[in-house]
Amino acid sequence: MNQIICVAFLLQIGFAFDFNKYNALDKIEKYLATFNCNQGTVRSKVEIIGKTFEKRSIYMVKMFTKRKTRCRSCKGKSKKAILVDGGIHPRDFISHAFVLYFLNFLKTTQAGFYLVKKFDWYLIPVLNPDGYVYAKNFERLWRKNRSPFNETCIGTDLNRNYGKQWNPENGGSRNPCNELYSGPFPFSELESQAERKLMLKKAFIGYLSIQSFGQLWIYPWGFTKDPVPDKPTLDKCAKAAASAATARNGVVYSSRQTSERSTLGGLSSDYAKAAGIKFPYEVLLRDKGTFGHLLPEDQIIATCEETTDAVIAWANCVCAEMM
Ligand SMILES: *[C@@H]1O[C@H](CO)[C@@H](O)[C@H](O)[C@H]1NC(C)=O
Ligand SMILES: [Zn+2]
Repeated sequence: MNQIICVAFLLQIGFAFDFNKYNALDKIEKYLATFNCNQGTVRSKVEIIGKTFEKRSIYMVKMFTKRKTRCRSCKGKSKKAILVDGGIHPRDFISHAFVLYFLNFLKTTQAGFYLVKKFDWYLIPVLNPDGYVYAKNFERLWRKNRSPFNETCIGTDLNRNYGKQWNPENGGSRNPCNELYSGPFPFSELESQAERKLMLKKAFIGYLSIQSFGQLWIYPWGFTKDPVPDKPTLDKCAKAAASAATARNGVVYSSRQTSERSTLGGLSSDYAKAAGIKFPYEVLLRDKGTFGHLLPEDQIIATCEETTDAVIAWANCVCAEMM
């Protein structure tokens, strides 16, 4: 069955997956299954990287080429991998939508093929599936996962739960009823544990945590106002990304260090940096507050197009700057 789907994919028959919508999890999972497709110029494979409290699978799609190809600008360096996740906060509906759009872009376009020649891509479209189902069905602005503290207070903010300078007093919360609850201890949650395992297993060169909203590319540190030693390099690639995004539709993106306005402990991007991933970013998609997390579906495609341009510019910058 998988091979039939795979061939259909290559022939671009399509799967009635509507990129103009915020799709339900079952539709997304059906679509992801079509990426178990070890054929064509861009190969892909679906893996389960962990299970959630509600026993859902966390899926990751790997994109790679048959041969270990290298782009000219990366010449002389071994092929590196990039990790991308969506939906660390379920209410950021545009983030899942982008990662799904980007999967399709990598698999089916010439420009996507170039990106996969430069890097292997590991993409997790829905890092927090329990939260996404809950946000879809019950509480649209849900931010946390769904692991209960007790009957009334449910969920941890995954993006405060990572183990680099985990600190509820630093932009998080010790109160399990609060939407910024940092969890009882660092990496207490199955979703953050699954991603930590991945980050430690594979020597990624880049990490993009796709979120919303703010039209902003931000980079470590978040927990302190101190800069990382290679801040100028991280800043250069963030600027390249933001200006490519802006150029597409005239919707203005900017970039800065995460902590420029206020410090935050336990971020996934800070942990990624500490784990040795040289180029980690949080990417905040549209908008700047007009609709906020409730970004209308008629802005999905334009947001995905400008963000794809941004990721291409960013990947080229990483290619040029990585040692
Ligand atoms: C759940 O825990 C919170 C925080 O400690 C507390 O305020 C609340 O009363 C508890 N609810 C129940 C049903 O125990
Ligand atoms: Zn978010």
